[in-house]
Amino acid sequence: MINIALPKGRLGEKVYAMFEKAGFECPSILENNRKLIFENEEKGVRYFWVKPSDVSIYVERGAADIGVAGKDILLEYAPEIYELLDLNIGKCRMAVAAKSGFYDDNEKTLKVATKFVNIAKNFYASRCRDIDIIKLNGSIEIAPILGLSDVIVDIVETGTTLRENDLEVVETVVPISARLIANKASFKFKTAEIEKIVDSMKAQVKTDD
Ligand code: PRP
Repeated sequence: MINIALPKGRLGEKVYAMFEKAGFECPSILENNRKLIFENEEKGVRYFWVKPSDVSIYVERGAADIGVAGKDILLEYAPEIYELLDLNIGKCRMAVAAKSGFYDDNEKTLKVATKFVNIAKNFYASRCRDIDIIKLNGSIEIAPILGLSDVIVDIVETGTTLRENDLEVVETVVPISARLIANKASFKFKTAEIEKIVDSMKAQVKTDD
C-alpha cells in the first residue's frame, strides 16, 4: 500500500484528478462527507487529505510515502524529502510587493512582512540587503498599507489581491508550482511502486503552450 498525502482544497482536487487519470483512482474519495482517509486496496493506494502546508511533514516523517506540496512550502521549510516531479499546476509566484511608487532607500533597514520568513531572509541575504522581518500569518497585504512594513514577500497568483489593495509587484522572488514528493526511506524500499506512480503521473502533466 502506498500512502499518499493530498493537499486539502482546490489544488488537492486537481491533484487527485491527475492520480485518477493516471490509473490510481479511489472512487470513495469523491463522496461528499468529512472523511479524511480513503483506500483502494486493489490499486494499492491510500489517500488522505491534510492541510497543504502539512503535506511535507507527513512525507518527511514517513506517515505518507508520497504527497503533493507547493514549492513555496519546500523552499520555506526545506524538508528532507525527494522532489520527484513538477506537476505544473498550482502555479503562482513568490514576489516582493509594495505600495505603488515605493522607493527602496538602501540606507535604511527594509521592513519585510511575510509568512515565508526563510524565503524572504534568503532572498535578501543573497543581495546583502539588511532587513527586519515581521512574521505574519495571513492578510499580509495589509502590512504596507498600515505602515507596519515597507514591503511584503507573498504569493501572487492572479494579482487581484494586490490590485484591490493598491499594491504592486516590485520583483519576482521565485516561480511556484505543485511538486510530487517522496519520503526517502519509502523511495528506497518501495521504489518500483513509487516509480510506477511517477511515470503515470508524468504522462498527466500538461506542459505550457
Ligand atoms: C494567497 C496570498 C495572497 C493571495 C494571492 O492567500 O497570500 O493573499 O493568495 O492570490 P491572487 O494574486 O490571485 O489575488 P491565500 O488565499 O492562500 O490566504 P492567506 O491570506 O492565508 O495567505
